[in-house]
Amino acid sequence: MKFPSEPFKIKVVEPIRRTTREERDRLLRHAGYNLFQVPADSVYVDLLTDSGTSAMSDNQWAGMMLGDESYAGSKNYFHFEEVVRSIFGYQHVIPTHQGRMAENLLFSTVLKPGMCVPNNIHFDTTRANVEHQGAEALDVVIKEAYDPHCDVPFKGNMDLLRLEHAINRIGRDRIPLVMITITNNSGGGQPVSMANIRETRALVNRYGIPLFFDACRFAENCFFIKEREAGYAEKPVIDIARELFGYGDGCTMSAKKDGLVNIGGFLSLNNDQWAQDITNLLILVEGFPTYGGLAGRDLEAMARGLREVLDEDYLSFRIGQVRYLGELLDQGGVPIVKPIGGHAVYLNAKEFLPHIPASQFPAQALACALFREYGIRGVEIGAVMFGKHDAVTGQVMYPELEMVRLAIPRRVYTNMQITYVAESIIALYQQRGMINGLKMVYEAPTLRHFTARFDELVLLHT
Ligand SMILES: Cc1ncc(COP(=O)(O)O)c(C=O)c1O
Repeated sequence: MKFPSEPFKIKVVEPIRRTTREERDRLLRHAGYNLFQVPADSVYVDLLTDSGTSAMSDNQWAGMMLGDESYAGSKNYFHFEEVVRSIFGYQHVIPTHQGRMAENLLFSTVLKPGMCVPNNIHFDTTRANVEHQGAEALDVVIKEAYDPHCDVPFKGNMDLLRLEHAINRIGRDRIPLVMITITNNSGGGQPVSMANIRETRALVNRYGIPLFFDACRFAENCFFIKEREAGYAEKPVIDIARELFGYGDGCTMSAKKDGLVNIGGFLSLNNDQWAQDITNLLILVEGFPTYGGLAGRDLEAMARGLREVLDEDYLSFRIGQVRYLGELLDQGGVPIVKPIGGHAVYLNAKEFLPHIPASQFPAQALACALFREYGIRGVEIGAVMFGKHDAVTGQVMYPELEMVRLAIPRRVYTNMQITYVAESIIALYQQRGMINGLKMVYEAPTLRHFTARFDELVLLHT
């Protein structure tokens, strides 16, 4: 196993409070066994998300001091625009406060009820923004993406046969754009190959359909291309990124991931008419086009973050640290989803806790046990997040996979803390029989995972 050595040293520290098991047990009960409801300062290693949780560099913080807070024409906007154009290559650059606003502006401009957007797998907010327009969010990822044991290098790839069938079935006129999410977050942070992107472009070209990227983790995707795809080993990641975006007509971006900032996003595209309509809407709901819901200092931090994220020492460390955690767990016999993704390691909760049936939320139970025993917070991606009641019978439908996602914030935790996470999970795995199932006692009508409450089914398993 390669030990990922940090390409930075620590200049500012944020103390973390150590809590006791008793304290965490009390907090967990109080939170109704929902980790979104526990206070963050009771968490030792927080792997809830990699979004907006990055540590900014001294260069980014210095840039924040140079924020030009003019209402119109801030110099930071022009720097940001220049950086975005130089990497992504699209004509119009529209800042937004985060990724979902870029999605909302795009889809409310180009979609009408009855239309459809194919994507490898839509991220939750992307799906919600498509459906909010009365359109269909269609996932057309390769079938291997749904098999947690299938170890293929580009598990985020589009299934081109299914995409072409979908275009023929639905009709070109009802598909204003095709999207590719890089890396494919909802499918485990898996990359998409350049060959697959090139072929997708050729296919949509035949039908005259624009291609957009959901580019949140573009640098991580490009690094995987460099590592895994023939012909790219010697290419700088920036050139790989330019080639990749050259196959598209635009992108949405949450800079809270590969922008290395705590808030920010943008939409960039070539279509003049769409850009004009989106800008008009932006002024209505976000702000003037040269700040788009952000401060000038945020734009400067984002411009600098987008350059830093392409540093290959950084990327090698970043992907290496996630892989390091996954490999330690794998060697310890812990069931994880393969291959290890770009921003997170996913525990396979069904195999971790075979004694807990789907109806007792094994992934939620595992996430809670990890917090209670070791102060580590991951997130459930299973029946709590995706379980549904059948509209006709009212019966509960369970998703195929029960996972706990351990998303690693960028440049935040040391390898020693990551080693602590691995050792804790291995120890928990050795005592997995002690973990109890949960009973849901409250659920909200939508996005229930944020506020659901549970009781622990102690008597059934001890
Ligand atoms: C693939 C993907 N698209 C879009 C978004 C939405 O971005 P934001 O949280 O900035 O609204 C996310 C956030 O996690 C994401 O992972």
